[in-house]
Amino acid sequence: VHVVQAEFVKSSVRTEDFPSDGLPEFALVGRSNVGKSSLLNSLVRRKRLALTSKKPGKTQCINHFRINDSWYLVDLPGYGYAAAPQELRRDWSKFTKDYFLNRSALVSVFLLIDASIPAKKIDLEYASWLGQNQIPMTLIFTKCDKRKKKKNGGKRPEENVSDFQELIRSFFQTVPPWIMTSSVTNQGRDEILLHMAQLRNY
Ligand code: GTP
Ligand code: MG
Repeated sequence: VHVVQAEFVKSSVRTEDFPSDGLPEFALVGRSNVGKSSLLNSLVRRKRLALTSKKPGKTQCINHFRINDSWYLVDLPGYGYAAAPQELRRDWSKFTKDYFLNRSALVSVFLLIDASIPAKKIDLEYASWLGQNQIPMTLIFTKCDKRKKKKNGGKRPEENVSDFQELIRSFFQTVPPWIMTSSVTNQGRDEILLHMAQLRNY
């Protein structure tokens, strides 16, 4: 299940630009700054394969990375980035939603949720949209290395995670599979790769 080879393939701004080799793929989605690109780097054990930034809105296209020449990790632009112009935000959300609904190579969405802060409404909305459209998803809680801070509501990552799961029970009969992660300590890396390998073999 380990990554022995990872290469950036392309950035797409239109559906027609996506790779057409039909290899299975997993999409990393979540709010801007939640740590999608950092998680991708952690999974492939590279520092800067996907570009990361302290400033939200770093990733602007749909980026395909081919892993072990047999499957893809897909880094998406984040949602909920308030500084982006309204029109651009609408375009992006349409583009990414079309991608979720129509991409046959997509095996599962990995929805990233920041465990260092309390649950955000937009994350619940996103999860329920994916659920309503029957798009398979795994919840990935990020930044589990971060300790509690007063300004973050004073809760530990574990508490934020269980709060989020509690909320998600109102949308789903069962809570989707979930994994606690950190791109700083690489917590959850093997668990994610194993989970992806199992999903590819279904
Ligand atoms: P966009 O491309 O803007 O949508 O953001 P993104 O989701 O790709 O986030 P990115 O990986 O660029 O990370 C955003 C910031 O969070 C960076 O400053 C990272 O260093 C930090 N970060 C990401 N993952 C972790 C983590 O697991 N722990 C901690 N402490 N910081 C993290
Ligand atoms: Mg990014």
